[in-house]
Amino acid sequence: MSYAHITGWGMAVPERVLSNADLERMVDTTAAWILERTGIHERRIARDGQTPSILGAEAAWKALKVAGLKPTDLDLIVCATSTPEHLFPATACLIQDRLGATKAGAFDLLAACTGFIYGLNMAAQAIRSGSIRSALVVGTETLSRFVNWQDRNTCILFGDGAGAFVLQAGDEPGGVLSAVLHSDGSGGGLLSLPAGGSRHPATDATVSAGMHFIHMDGKEVFRFATRVMAQATRESLAAAGLELGDIHWIVPHQANMRIIDAAARSLKLPLDRFIVNIEKYGNTSTASIPMAVCEAFEQGLLKAGNRIVLVGFGAGLTWGALTAEWTGPVGGRRVQPWAYRVFARVRSAFRRLSRHIEGILWGGKG
Ligand code: ACO
Repeated sequence: MSYAHITGWGMAVPERVLSNADLERMVDTTAAWILERTGIHERRIARDGQTPSILGAEAAWKALKVAGLKPTDLDLIVCATSTPEHLFPATACLIQDRLGATKAGAFDLLAACTGFIYGLNMAAQAIRSGSIRSALVVGTETLSRFVNWQDRNTCILFGDGAGAFVLQAGDEPGGVLSAVLHSDGSGGGLLSLPAGGSRHPATDATVSAGMHFIHMDGKEVFRFATRVMAQATRESLAAAGLELGDIHWIVPHQANMRIIDAAARSLKLPLDRFIVNIEKYGNTSTASIPMAVCEAFEQGLLKAGNRIVLVGFGAGLTWGALTAEWTGPVGGRRVQPWAYRVFARVRSAFRRLSRHIEGILWGGKG
């Protein structure tokens, strides 16, 4: 049986920083309140035209470089996102095109902030079954485009960014060890983006009712999150045959520092066993866990052989946890991303042109 190793990782965030002090000037809040009640100090906001596929592809190029893999080596791209560029085409396909990953199947996965854990598990299962050899899992968001910047209950929480992992098959034991995934649709109304789908397509009425913004019952989501984080962590560990003492790091979804605190208390673990970067980025939904992992590696906290639990929750309601043994870096062959970037651009333009010419030649003759 193959094992699914995490061999590459990367992240990308917009340059623009929105601080708590900036928010003070936008809604009835204070920088101190935000920091004290959420742990967030600042977040990144995408500029016009900086879309999830652009951020996601940026993170993916870095992950491919770490893994020493060419885009054309990828068999599968899973994009977990709560803010897809369109209902269709999938943001995963836009990333596939940006990378020139010509062999890869690509699809979006919507499990809100738990999406990266869902996607990682799906990709790992496909590798372990032997049906594919490599996969790219991307979590990418521009939540700022769905935030009501007049609603102080939500606009203080969210930020934009992307993270990506490369997974590869290997014979050595390790990589993704276990995962548990859960859902409870009865809580769907607690955190939602009510319009824009087939139930409430966009109309003047939905727009003026603010139905294209994130709606959230913060207190209820908070209660739900504090209940499930520790529970999912324990379940994932049990499924891997491990105990808390075997784990080097817990990487929680970065939604609210007080939720992470509560999980630590419930697991009876000191906070310094948790990877936390919420102060810099806020809640970036599917991107928050891979971004936290990338920064932990860069800071020298996360090392090859470390065992980690990734744990998250989100709209749906969804929640889950995944236990892994950190493999990389594997020191694969050196790839030159710039050369593949040029190839991807040229390839994409050529494909469009050839489709256009085909249309002219055969379009009227079907
Ligand atoms: N500034 C100042 N005061 C505020 C603000 C603000 N930004 N927001 C709310 N308040 C006020 C409220 O109006 C309330 O005032 P009142 O007592 O006069 O009514 C008071 O602060 C306390 O409100 P609470 O809702 O109890 O505040 P709380 O401490 O719970 O913090 C928060 C609110 C931060 C939203 C918290 O409930 C939370 O983090 N919930 C979880 C949210 C979450 O994780 N969402 C993402 C899920 S993942 C995904 O799928 C995207």
